[in-house]
Amino acid sequence: MKLRKLAVAMTAVMAFGAISVPAAAEETQVIGISMPTQSLERWNRDGEYLKEQFENAGYTVELKYSDNDSSQQVSDIQNLLADNVDILIIAAVDGEALNTVMDEAAESEIPVIAYDRLIMNDATSYYVSFDNYTVGQLQGEFIVETLDLENAGDATYNMEITAGDPADNNAGYFYNGAMDVLNPYIEAGTLVVVSGQTDFDSVATDQWDTQTALERAQNILSSYYADGTQLDVWLCSNDSTALGVAQGITSDYAGDNTVIITGQDGDVANLANIVDGIQTMTVYKNVSNESIVTLALAEAMLNGETIDEAFTESLSVEAAFDTESYETSDGVKCPSILLVPSVITADNIEELVDTGLYEMGEDGYLTAVE
Ligand code: BGC
Repeated sequence: MKLRKLAVAMTAVMAFGAISVPAAAEETQVIGISMPTQSLERWNRDGEYLKEQFENAGYTVELKYSDNDSSQQVSDIQNLLADNVDILIIAAVDGEALNTVMDEAAESEIPVIAYDRLIMNDATSYYVSFDNYTVGQLQGEFIVETLDLENAGDATYNMEITAGDPADNNAGYFYNGAMDVLNPYIEAGTLVVVSGQTDFDSVATDQWDTQTALERAQNILSSYYADGTQLDVWLCSNDSTALGVAQGITSDYAGDNTVIITGQDGDVANLANIVDGIQTMTVYKNVSNESIVTLALAEAMLNGETIDEAFTESLSVEAAFDTESYETSDGVKCPSILLVPSVITADNIEELVDTGLYEMGEDGYLTAVE
């Protein structure tokens, strides 16, 4: 592992025929962080928290954002490698598009932590994320419970689905987690997807983009609901897509305003929508905790410590050590540390204030604490 020498005094003093060398060279390790984009709220928070955690622990941090462009991300990572970082932390724009640069990292013996999104390359040393399948399950279970589908009898409910970016390995987990809960009700006819668009490819949203989600929602609403058909639920995999869907419902749906909309992250705009009754829930992921776990993992890696269940249990944050769920290629399991997501609704939104990361204004809306 390379060590960067900083603040090496450049002066050598000649005295009495001897050269005195600076007593100690201060050494600091460098952490290279590559985040996907600043256009989605959470990655700004991830970047800030990671930077703060590592800097407070005495590391030098190089943080780059790739504007949701995977070629940009490749060149960002190449630059980080050229700067001799000691470890790479990468949230991939496209988990399949980093092979060349991952091979370069492996050749330079720079370990890589896949942050939040898995990288489909065996040079990935560890994966830190939330339990992605559980995120989807929580959304599905929320819908089942809110509509009391188990006791629905002959009642039917109309639903639409918006999923995430196909380039993001997480998106399939969220979708599958939710659909595994909801499919039995779709098959029984209790939940009806009026547009007929249920498979992942039909409901996916490139780059998790709000505008893309809005336009698809408007198309569906004008094609299938303009005749007064009631819409009961819109399963959205995350908050950026839920924001678009909520806008579409406001602009293009004439029915009553009681559509259940799910989300994920706890973006500030979505928390406002939850307060206003426009979005119904979000699966909250405390990304400050994700950065705390990432720092602990990186330090353990840099110190050559054993990373296992006992290590994970020793963390200050609740997480599971999982060696089975994620593969970087066929049959190659990636050891993962998975944090626990939780459901936030209008009823428990104040729990976010208890995290110390948000404050509630007198108007009842939450803002992130700077
Ligand atoms: C993250 C989600 C986020 C989405 C879009 C996913 O990889 O896990 O938390 O909503 O990307 O940024």
